Amino acid sequence: MKAIAVHPGKAHTMHLRDIEKPSISDIPNGRGVLVKVLQVGVDATDMEINEALYGAAPAGDDYLVIGHEAFGIVEEVGSAVTHVQPGDYVACTVRRPGKSIYDRIGRSDITSEETYFERGINLLHGFMTEYFVDDAEFIVKYPGALKNLGVLAEPASVCAKAIEQAYAAQQRLQVWEPKKAWVMGAGQIGLLATMMLKLRRLDVCTIARSPAEGNLKAEIAESFGAQYVSTKDQSLHDVAREHGRPDLIIEATGNSMIAFQCMNVLNLNGALVLTSVTGGSRSTEIESDKINLEWVLGNKLLLGTVNGNFRHFQAGIADLALGASMYPGVIERILTHPIDGMDQYEKLLPLLSDSSVLKVFVNIAKG
Ligand code: BGC
Ligand code: ZN
Repeated sequence: MKAIAVHPGKAHTMHLRDIEKPSISDIPNGRGVLVKVLQVGVDATDMEINEALYGAAPAGDDYLVIGHEAFGIVEEVGSAVTHVQPGDYVACTVRRPGKSIYDRIGRSDITSEETYFERGINLLHGFMTEYFVDDAEFIVKYPGALKNLGVLAEPASVCAKAIEQAYAAQQRLQVWEPKKAWVMGAGQIGLLATMMLKLRRLDVCTIARSPAEGNLKAEIAESFGAQYVSTKDQSLHDVAREHGRPDLIIEATGNSMIAFQCMNVLNLNGALVLTSVTGGSRSTEIESDKINLEWVLGNKLLLGTVNGNFRHFQAGIADLALGASMYPGVIERILTHPIDGMDQYEKLLPLLSDSSVLKVFVNIAKG
C-alpha cells in the first residue's frame, strides 16, 4: 500500500513509497484494531520533520512514514476489543508509552523519559498511508455525525490538554476565575483554542500578525465571538493597554520570541501556556530583571504542554461537537486546503510553508 515518507535528518526528502499492509495480528492479545485511513492532516511539525529540524526514523529503518493527525474507519478488530467495532469512525492518539510512572498510568503525554515515541514524528511510523493497526488502547471513537471535522480530532486534543493543564495548575491559587484570555497565533491550534476558551465563557483576544481585513483567520476567530487583534502595527504592550492584561495566555505562534514577549504582559496570578514546538536554534534577548521581578511579585505561572492522551482526545472531540452546534458552519472553515490523494504529495510543502494557508490535509479514501 502507498505511504508518504521522509528520510529524517536529511532535508526535503518527502516521497511516496510502498509499504506492507498491517494486520490485526501484529498486536498481541487480540487487542489490534485495523483502521482504513480516510484523512490525515499535516501541520508545522511535518514541515520541521521534512526540513530535518525534528523527528527520527524507527530503529532499523532509514525512513519515517509521516502523518500524526489521523481520521479513519475501523475495518477489523481483534477478539479482545470492545469499545470500537467495524464501521466506527475513529481518531488515534500519537504518543506511545515508555517505562516511566507517567507512561504506566496512561499519561505518556507527560512522560519523564527523554526519549518519546510518537507515530509519524519520532521513532514510530505514522498514519499517512492506506491502513494502520494499533492497540485498542489508543483508538478513540469519533461521532459519525461530525465526520467532516474528524481530521481536527488530534489538534483539538492538544488544545484540550493545554487548557486542562492551565486550570489544573492554577488550583495552586485556591480560587481562579480567569476573565481575559489571549491566544497567540491564529493557526489551527490558535483557532481551536479560541473556540474552546469561548465555550468556557472567557473574553478572548486572538492575536496574530496579519491585518484583519479580508483575513479568513480573523473571520473565524470573530465568528467564535473572540476579538481578532493584529500586531502588525502595534506591540503587545499596546494591546495590553487597550484590551487589559490577560489572566491566561495560550501561545501557539511557533515563534519562541513571541513566547518570551508574552511574559511582559501577563496579569497578576496569570498563567502563560507554551505550546509551540520550535525545532530551530534562534535566540533572543529579554529584559530579564524586569520580567523576573514582575513574575515573582505577581505569582505568575509558566507552563509548557505537549501532546494529548486518550482522555484529551475525548475532551477535544466533545468540544468540537459543542462548538459545531454553538457556532454552526464555523469550525469547517478551518479546513481550507484538501489534497486529493497521496499521489499529490508534492503539493504539501509549498502549502505548509505559506503562512496564509490555514489547514492542509490529505483525502486518502472516501467513507
Ligand atoms: C503533535 C503532538 C506532538 C508534538 C511533539 C505536535 O505537532 O500534534 O501530538 O506531541 O508535535 O512532537
Ligand atoms: Zn501536530
